[in-house]
Amino acid sequence: MDSIQTITDINQRPDLRTFHPDALPWPSKLDPAEHAFCSRVCGFPTIRMNESRAYWGKELAQLADIERHVSICLGLISGFASDSGLLGGVPMMNAMLRFAAEEYQHANMFYRYVELLIGQPLDLSGESLEHRLGLFLGPESPGAKLVALLASAYPGETVITLFEHRVRLFDPTQRHFATRMLVAHGLDEARHIQFDHYVLGQLAPSLDDGEWADARRLCRNMEAANHALAERYEARMRQILPCEFVEGNTAARIQRHFSQKLLRETLAGRTFRLADQALSSQDRALVMDFTGRASIHPGGGSTWH
Ligand SMILES: [Fe+2]
Ligand SMILES: [Fe+2]
Repeated sequence: MDSIQTITDINQRPDLRTFHPDALPWPSKLDPAEHAFCSRVCGFPTIRMNESRAYWGKELAQLADIERHVSICLGLISGFASDSGLLGGVPMMNAMLRFAAEEYQHANMFYRYVELLIGQPLDLSGESLEHRLGLFLGPESPGAKLVALLASAYPGETVITLFEHRVRLFDPTQRHFATRMLVAHGLDEARHIQFDHYVLGQLAPSLDDGEWADARRLCRNMEAANHALAERYEARMRQILPCEFVEGNTAARIQRHFSQKLLRETLAGRTFRLADQALSSQDRALVMDFTGRASIHPGGGSTWH
């Protein structure tokens, strides 16, 4: 299939499969049942309210920060793309700018939920935003930058998808706000995963050797920046809610396992493997145990629910 057709197919009627965050039934405060649900999703044997608030708060604030950075960078890359061979027609620009717009909405949604969870806003972006944006303002080609950006985002997008599957498993009727929020997020995320698969599977192999080396270097620098960001959010959360929220937390253990596995896999070679293809039989058993599903992105993300 040619690339323009692929991009067009991925973006079929996204207006019907999206959700504006303001359309969610936002409560003025989270009730005990919501906190208990979040605790259960972490796999704590008994309700551990503060540990669960700290874990969800830290992870979603950090995710919001990364999503906003992805939005800004997609906008930047699109601005330099028309003079390159990247666009190949309008659908590619359409796909990048829609992706960017959706990640802004996600960042807004998650920041808002974090404030409900921990009773205060949490945004540490300013300390490192200039450095993280600077990575994408260098002389590398727009194609190399796009590959690097999405390769650095793909492990996180895959892990949040695991969490969407988990809340659906525990709350099939979507009674809890956290479930509704992650399901709303997943409507857009399904497209992002497909776009990642297109960019990493079809566009990345077409980069020349110099662009490929640039993409790998940019991606590694971005991963290092994200790692430092995660440490800052964790340290800040330990000040806000002093408790041990990682030890004994199944969600944290699964998140770390799959993040590390997929980061090792990212741009390791010229041949891209979808997240599910990179899983061992033990990994598949972990996915089944955590989510009740046999795969993370069935059909490459195209047959979603
Ligand atoms: Fe997102
Ligand atoms: Fe996304």
